[in-house]
Parts: sequence; C-alpha cells; structure tokens
Amino acid sequence: MTSSGPGNLLNACGEGIFKMNSNWKTTKVLGLMMLANFFIYIVVEVSRSYGQGRDIYSRQKLTPKHFWKKPEVSPAFWNRVQDRLDDIYYLTVANASKAPNNLQGIPHQLNGTSPCKPDTRVTTEIEDFKSLPQRFQDFLLYMRCRSYPLITDTSKVCSKPPYLLLAVKSIATHFDRRQAIRESWGRAGIIDGRRIATVFLLGKTDPTDHFPDLSNMVKHEAELYGDILQWDYRDSFFNLTLKEVLFLEWFGTHCASAKYVFKGDDDVFVNTRHMLAHLGNISVHKTQDLFIGDVIANAGPHRTRHLKYYIPESVFRGVYPPYAGGGGYLYSGNLGLRLRTISRLVTLYPIDDVYTGMCLKRLGLVPEKHMGFKTFDIEEKHRENPCAYKNLILVHPRTPQDMIRIWSWINDPKAKCYIAPTQDTKGGKRHKKNK
Ligand SMILES: *[C@@H]1O[C@H](CO)[C@@H](O)[C@H](O)[C@H]1NC(C)=O
Ligand SMILES: *[C@@H]1O[C@H](CO)[C@@H](O)[C@H](O)[C@H]1NC(C)=O
Ligand SMILES: *[C@@H]1O[C@H](CO)[C@@H](O)[C@H](O)[C@H]1NC(C)=O
Ligand SMILES: *[C@@H]1O[C@H](CO)[C@@H](O)[C@H](O)[C@H]1NC(C)=O
Repeated sequence: MTSSGPGNLLNACGEGIFKMNSNWKTTKVLGLMMLANFFIYIVVEVSRSYGQGRDIYSRQKLTPKHFWKKPEVSPAFWNRVQDRLDDIYYLTVANASKAPNNLQGIPHQLNGTSPCKPDTRVTTEIEDFKSLPQRFQDFLLYMRCRSYPLITDTSKVCSKPPYLLLAVKSIATHFDRRQAIRESWGRAGIIDGRRIATVFLLGKTDPTDHFPDLSNMVKHEAELYGDILQWDYRDSFFNLTLKEVLFLEWFGTHCASAKYVFKGDDDVFVNTRHMLAHLGNISVHKTQDLFIGDVIANAGPHRTRHLKYYIPESVFRGVYPPYAGGGGYLYSGNLGLRLRTISRLVTLYPIDDVYTGMCLKRLGLVPEKHMGFKTFDIEEKHRENPCAYKNLILVHPRTPQDMIRIWSWINDPKAKCYIAPTQDTKGGKRHKKNK
C-alpha cells in the first residue's frame, strides 16, 4: 500500500479517475484518462457478461460511498489545504471508511520538520494575514505541526485495559480541578465492576503567556499520580485541536484496548456511574460506532471579530458538520482508533470540537445527541437538588468543590438520591479477590 498505493488505485478505481479529472489540465491527458475509463468499462462489462460474480462484487466494493462531498475550490486557506488532502482521502480511504487502518504515516502536507518550524508561506498565501488577530497568526504558522514529544511517563495508566478511559483536558495551573476529579468522578480503579482509568491532557504553560513556571510542580504531580499526559507544546485555546490529535495518537499506541473513551473539560461534573449504566445498556450492534454528547447541528463559523469563536473568512468558509460540544463526549475505543487514523488526513482547525465533527464526517458518522449531557447546565432551581444529578451524564460548569459535593450525593448510601451499586459490583469484587 505504501509503495505503490495511489497508482494502483488509480488504475483500479474508476471513480478515482473521475475525481481527478478536474486536476488534469491538458486535453491529451484527459483523452488518455477517458480511454482508460472506457477500457475499464469494457473489461467490467465483459466480465459481467461472462457471469463472473466475483468481479461484479469487487466492482461494487470499489465504488466509494459519497458520504463526504468534496467542496468547491475555496478562497479560504484551510479549505484549500484540506482540498489537497481530500484527494489523498478519496484515493486511499474512501472505500475503506470502516477501517482506514492502511493509512500509516501523516502526509507531508501535515507534517513539519522536527522540531517543527513555523510555515512562513502562510504569511503570503493568506492575503490579510498581517491583520489577523495574533492567535490566528500563531495557529496558522504552526498548523502543519502535530508531532510534539510527550514529557511525562504514562506507562502504567492502561497496564490493565480499562473499560472506560476518562481523558480530561486541563492546563498546568488547574491543580485543584484535577485533584477534585481524582477524588470524585474521575477516581481510577473499579467502579460498579468496571475498570476506570483517568488521564489529564496538558501542554506547557508558556512564558510568553506570562504564566509562572509551574513545570516542577507538574512534574511532581505526574510522578505522584502517573496520570498526567503532558506534551511539549504551548497550551492555548487554539491548540486544543493539537491536544485532540496528540491524545488520539497516544490512545492508539498506549491504550487501544479501552472499550470506551470519555473526553471532556476539567470544569464539568460527570456522573460516571450513570455513564457506566448507560454503556451497559447499549445494544451490541450500536457499540462500535458509539459517539454521544451534546450535539450541535447546523452551525457555522462566527464572523464577529471580538467573539471567542470568531473565524475570518480568509481562513475558513463553509458550514460545520454536526459536532458534540467539547465540554464532554463519549465514544467507543474502536471509533477512537478510526478517529486517530482519519485525523491524519484532516487539517488542524482552531476549534477542537468542530474538528472532531469534521473527522467523524469523513468516517461517514454523525454524533448522536444524548439528553444526559448538559453542557449548558441545568435550570438554576434544580442545581442544588441532589436528585437532579442521578440520571444525568454530564453537567457544565462545576467547581472542584461542587464536584466533590455532588459526587457524595450519589455515592453516600444515606443520601436521598444514592445510586445503589449494580449487580456488576459483585463481579468487580470477585475480580479483586481473585488476585
Ligand atoms: C479499496 O478497495 C480495494 C478492493 O476492495 C482494495 O484492494 C483497496 O486496497 C482499497 N483501498 C484502500 C485504501 O483500502
Ligand atoms: C512526520 O514527522 C515525524 C516526526 O518528525 C517523522 O517521524 C515521520 O516520519 C514524518 N512523516 C512523514 C510522512 O514525513
Ligand atoms: C501551539 O503550540 C506551538 C508549539 O508550542 C506554538 O508554537 C504555537 O504558537 C501554538 N499555537 C497557538 C495558537 O497558541
Ligand atoms: C437501562 O435499561 C433498563 C431496562 O430497560 C432501564 O430501566 C434503565 O433505566 C436503563 N438505564 C440507563 C442508564 O439507561
């Protein structure tokens, strides 16, 4: 596949030839291509007329499913870069959407040198580059860079394959949030008979952002708990997508046997036990493609310059695919592996949850809305009601103290809305005794 992939596919795949037509400019080549198409047609028809079922079958298999429509050539920079990647996508993954595992490395368009240097061509390729807000300039200069070293030891996190991996986006300064999560909804170990593992995803606090130097404290924390995934890049809002792809790569190499993955922020409360109950209820045929959260559909980029989610027209044009709000979403480990692979063919986008939606779309999937994810909080009058949390999966936002308080509401046998352990707990205890 790696040595001769595109050429072979081009010959084998009539659809691919059609896709490429627009890129061939001389009529000579066009003529040749049409001739080739004609020959393929003849060969297929002849084999069909001879009744060779196998050929007909493989012909059907070769037709890419057009769940991902290639957009028109756009004046926006991100669209142009992605357009080139979509050509690779069509030739290599479109007919293998369920398991694009043949895609090994990252195409060089997305891979800078190591250590990655800024791509100064963007300063001329984007006409209004110099007038863009600084965060966009930073983002665009490093858009191709996505290999940063992991600087903490996380070898123990998944030494026993977890049923549920909780991956929490955090930044160095949030020590209290991480500790509250460890002591409440993110406690690693066995809950209701299921193994839970927790990791915190961190970049580095950069002196240019006027952060104090917390590196030794984070180092100490990482040694103490072994649950810190810290990469050597600058943690910032627009680098959250980098955090996403780095996590997916780590997941694929170090924790691929996790059955489910939750990824969310460090200012949410997760009712881990209700999440487990929900996962236990999902029918087998639905587990493989599971991706649930607070789904936002029919959205597009904001064009008002002062907004947090502002995207200039010179950077991106188009609508957003359905995506689950980045406060927290839940997906199957198997889908996590497919997301990891497909993400290598999707240009980094400054908004991480939209980016994940873009990856899902290329896998032919749509995230499913689940009413238990309250990323815009619950009604104020219910917030102090312990029972309001019993049947929820996620609530945002909550402070570290809230997390500890709410966790006790559902875990204290004397509390009114205590969630009784499921039968599985016995299994968990047995499991522990056996060791
Ligand atoms: C596309 O399908 C054909 C036939 O099933 C297969 O030989 C080829 O490897 C597939 N391409 C990819 C990228 O999987
Ligand atoms: C991408 O970069 C990484 C690290 O710099 C390197 O190991 C890998 O071979 C590169 N891949 C390609 C396709 O250039
Ligand atoms: C993302 O991280 C890289 C590596 O540290 C940094 O050079 C770049 O400025 C960061 N981008 C943003 C938008 O902060
Ligand atoms: C699981 O299914 C049972 C039986 O259908 C139902 O009573 C329960 O509410 C479900 N639990 C969750 C968390 O969906």
